[in-house]
Amino acid sequence: MEKKIDSSGVIKAKKHYEEKSAASRSESSHNKKTRFTRSSTESFAQSRAKISLKKSSPRAQQNKEDQLTRLNKVIADSGITSRRNADDLIQQGVVKVNGKTVTTLGFRVSPDDEISVNGNPIPQNIKKIYIVLNKPKDYIVSVKDESNRQTVMDLIKLKSRIFPVGRLDRNTTGVLLMTNDGDLSHRLLHPSYEIEKTYAALLDRNLLEKDAKAILAGIEIEGSKANVSELFIDPNNTRKVYLTLNEGKNHEVKLLFEMLGYKVKQLDRKAFANITASRLPKGDWRFLTKHEVFQLKKMVGLF
Ligand code: URA
Repeated sequence: MEKKIDSSGVIKAKKHYEEKSAASRSESSHNKKTRFTRSSTESFAQSRAKISLKKSSPRAQQNKEDQLTRLNKVIADSGITSRRNADDLIQQGVVKVNGKTVTTLGFRVSPDDEISVNGNPIPQNIKKIYIVLNKPKDYIVSVKDESNRQTVMDLIKLKSRIFPVGRLDRNTTGVLLMTNDGDLSHRLLHPSYEIEKTYAALLDRNLLEKDAKAILAGIEIEGSKANVSELFIDPNNTRKVYLTLNEGKNHEVKLLFEMLGYKVKQLDRKAFANITASRLPKGDWRFLTKHEVFQLKKMVGLF
């Protein structure tokens, strides 16, 4: 049995994801409005005319127009980056469509256009993959390790190119999402969406109630207060603490306890954005269900 510490009003009420989703939806629709200005549409048409080599009838042309997808989306869908970063790449002039550099934001491409970023071809219409891994100890969370140590990629034998959503320390275990959906990953990690992560930490000594209260009141790490929304101490072992944060700073749990003079001996992530790895042995993974993917997207305004 775990005891929930009564924070007497210090625990912040959880915000409704629906509210956040609505806010981000209206923000993203606002962005769309501002990005698709008349001049950007015109420059899109002009740039497209330069690149399109084939002439077709108005009806066929309309049909082709219907197949067009924004270039930044195609780049993000390939899994190499988010849509926003893809816009930066476009503006930097490192994106080519059919061999010609495109710097116009809002530019759209058809499924048979050949796209490259920094000279590397970008395949189109890649199937989206969403995975949760129960990360074991001693695996680096990275696609590649310069020192050739084993990475989480060694645990997932899939042909598709996926990447981890955020980081866990090498000796941290537990829930790690992996995907090739650059947009979703970017949003899940963006502080504005306040995605919740729950950890079980084993400390080097019993956590004092006054320190638990200080954590809930907000300990400053790296210039801002860590927003811990819930904290439980295991009454059978008061070195064992469960806490929920909605930030994404590296080493945040260890830093938080260090500030109060504790050392984290073990750290296991129990949930990320409500996704858990319960019933998955360490080192094992599963695909997320359609419902889980829908819930994730809803949290960050992608539905
Ligand atoms: N906080 C940490 O200190 N380490 C992790 O791996 C995750 C959160």
